[in-house]
Amino acid sequence: MFALKIMEAIPEIGGKRVIVRADLNVPESGGKITDETRIARFAPTAKWLADRGAKVIVLTHFGRPKGKSPEFSTALIAPALERALGKPVAFVPDSVGPEVEAAIAKMGDGDVLLLENVRFYPEEEANDPAFAKRLAALGDIYVNDAFSAAHRAHASTEGITGFLPSYAGLLMAEEVGALSRALENPARPALAIVAGSKVSTKLAVLENVTGKVDALALGGAMANTFLLARGYGIGASMAEADMVGTARKILARAEENGCEIMLPVDACVAMEASAASPRKFVGIGDIGDGWKIFDVGPETSKLIEAKLSGMKTVLLNGTLGMYEVEPFARGSVELARTIARMTKGGGLTSVAGGGDTVATINMAGAGDGFTYISTAGGAFLEWLEGKRLPAIVPLIKE
Ligand code: 3PG
Repeated sequence: MFALKIMEAIPEIGGKRVIVRADLNVPESGGKITDETRIARFAPTAKWLADRGAKVIVLTHFGRPKGKSPEFSTALIAPALERALGKPVAFVPDSVGPEVEAAIAKMGDGDVLLLENVRFYPEEEANDPAFAKRLAALGDIYVNDAFSAAHRAHASTEGITGFLPSYAGLLMAEEVGALSRALENPARPALAIVAGSKVSTKLAVLENVTGKVDALALGGAMANTFLLARGYGIGASMAEADMVGTARKILARAEENGCEIMLPVDACVAMEASAASPRKFVGIGDIGDGWKIFDVGPETSKLIEAKLSGMKTVLLNGTLGMYEVEPFARGSVELARTIARMTKGGGLTSVAGGGDTVATINMAGAGDGFTYISTAGGAFLEWLEGKRLPAIVPLIKE
């Protein structure tokens, strides 16, 4: 465990130009923001600073633009940020340079200014020191509130900290605290539920997590690879045949660490990934030729529920089935509801993260039942891998 330099400790903030790196990389469709969660979760940091008279200069990336392109302009985000803050947010169509400097010079204490998408400059992702220095020159203090971008060593997340006193924002501190408590120092016993389509993308997560928790439940197509490793037939289901050896090693390592591995005991199988395709629930071991696993079955849900009832901590990443196709969302939706119910009942700390994971929690209407839901996708995964995220390192108290 480590402690962060937190922004509440900034001496004399009034009148200071504070550059705040947020992650306002929100989903968008047809020019409309489809989910404002990241804006809402960042708002308390901006408000806290503005209420104390800081000049709040907000910097974010938005999407993965290749150079300047209008559809990735953060101008789209300014009105939503205004609503979240309940105060005007000025926008300037650049991230550095004379126009930005002029806009900052005009700011009053407590004003909020949103800069253009910092990824319009290739120097951002290259973590170019000269660019980081130009960004830093716009402010007196740097606050990083972008936990969900903390796995990126970019100029606005990492490079800039070499030039300004740097602190963690409220959301950054909240994320690091919640995730540390769940993974580094969980109330025991602790269960991790790791699911998703591929073992290969979650290999490092599985290796790290089996050394930290008492039990690990696997789901999604990645569980199929483990079923193969245990000698089950999986019909025509998706799996990574070349990862079966690796899956065996993970099973062996888990056993050495005293971490119980739970695999699905039944499944919802269909011929195709479509609601129209015939489907049925079958026991693992009874999956016929040509059938494909698209979700866990009710017996697996019951087993996980029974396991959860003896747990003090649960960490959830990934979905148990192909939730995008309605009939195959059952396992994930039921799991989210079970976790939320048990958390509300007291005694269970529940932490979840990852884009698909949060989508199924929202489908289940269970968001308010979890102890903590991270705003991060890739950064959450790298955290689960046990990595020190490069943008967090400079914020650690010596
Ligand atoms: C995310 O959405 O996970 C973060 O905003 C990081 O975005 P990136 O993967 O484009 O760096």
